[in-house]
Amino acid sequence: MDTLDTLRAKYLQGVAAAADEAALEDVRLAALGKKGEVSLKMRELGQMSPEQRLTAGPALNALKDELDAALRARKAALADAALDERLKAEWLDVTLPARPRPRGTIHPVSQVMEELTAIFADMGFAVAEGPQIESDWYNFDALNIPPEHPARQEHDTFFMARAADDTRPPHVLRTHTSPVQIRAMTEKGAPIRVIAPGRVYRMDMDQTHAPMFHQVEGLAIDRNLSMANLKWVLEEFCRAFFEVPNVDLRFRASHFPFTEPSAEVDIRCSWAGGQLKIGEGDSWLEILGSGMVHPKVLKAAGVDPDQWQGFAFGMGIDRIAMLKYGIPDLRAFFDSDLRWLRHYGFAALDMPTLHGGLSR
Ligand code: PHE
Repeated sequence: MDTLDTLRAKYLQGVAAAADEAALEDVRLAALGKKGEVSLKMRELGQMSPEQRLTAGPALNALKDELDAALRARKAALADAALDERLKAEWLDVTLPARPRPRGTIHPVSQVMEELTAIFADMGFAVAEGPQIESDWYNFDALNIPPEHPARQEHDTFFMARAADDTRPPHVLRTHTSPVQIRAMTEKGAPIRVIAPGRVYRMDMDQTHAPMFHQVEGLAIDRNLSMANLKWVLEEFCRAFFEVPNVDLRFRASHFPFTEPSAEVDIRCSWAGGQLKIGEGDSWLEILGSGMVHPKVLKAAGVDPDQWQGFAFGMGIDRIAMLKYGIPDLRAFFDSDLRWLRHYGFAALDMPTLHGGLSR
């Protein structure tokens, strides 16, 4: 039985010394493989006498089982160690700061459009739209500005090119959002309550004028709306929009061909200390034109002026954005300067709502 003890010692040591699964497999083959030492010993049992076999058999089986168990245990230990090794190599420091991603922001004009849409929606106004390339008729004639009317000159209109022999009236880049009044009434009839925010174009350029800017048109037509309703809607809007407790509006008599009577509206503000504040001080800033829709305009849009009346207004979106967010130069709005956008822009996921707050 000495030989068995020698074999046990030799292979248990081999198992313990195997550094990886391949080395361990070599040990297994040398001991228990088809031609392994222990297997060969098993085969010798055949030539033994029954008495010899009686003691040698169980002893050999025990050795085989023991080696088998040692091999398995070692194999499991090696697998664990390999896994530990891998986990160590793949270790991730979750406390490292995330890589900064380039982040876009919402332009103040878009933000203000969302804000005013939320406010007017709350007062029952739907959003209407019209094309930026508009026909002469919608932009002027239907709004009671016939071809020779002096108001046409004041609009600094961009005309679309026409072939030299084309005698039709030209299309224009709309000079205001008022043509959407006509389109909305023609399409929906009366009663109606809509706003129409969008781009408008005029040949003008300085610190407070850009050749492309934004307006929001408002239109409300019903049986007996009056200037009083117009005043309430505009005051309510300004209170909600500027988010200050006191907003003071001044209605100044004015003239627009498409409203009668007409009023321009100024908002009270202060420039004290070079800082613009709404609702206090002794300065006034014009923010919109408005009035009762002219009967000729209703007629042009197929609405009977004997049955219906209402008000309209047109407000400069860029202007009220500058006022609310203290942005000094209009031209910067359209420069696409990333530093400016990062400074004045808004977080993309903060949608303005009346209940959640309009601005952050
Ligand atoms: N369309 C006018 C403008 O651009 C504003 C306005 C709209 C005035 C509606 C009265 C009514 O100046």
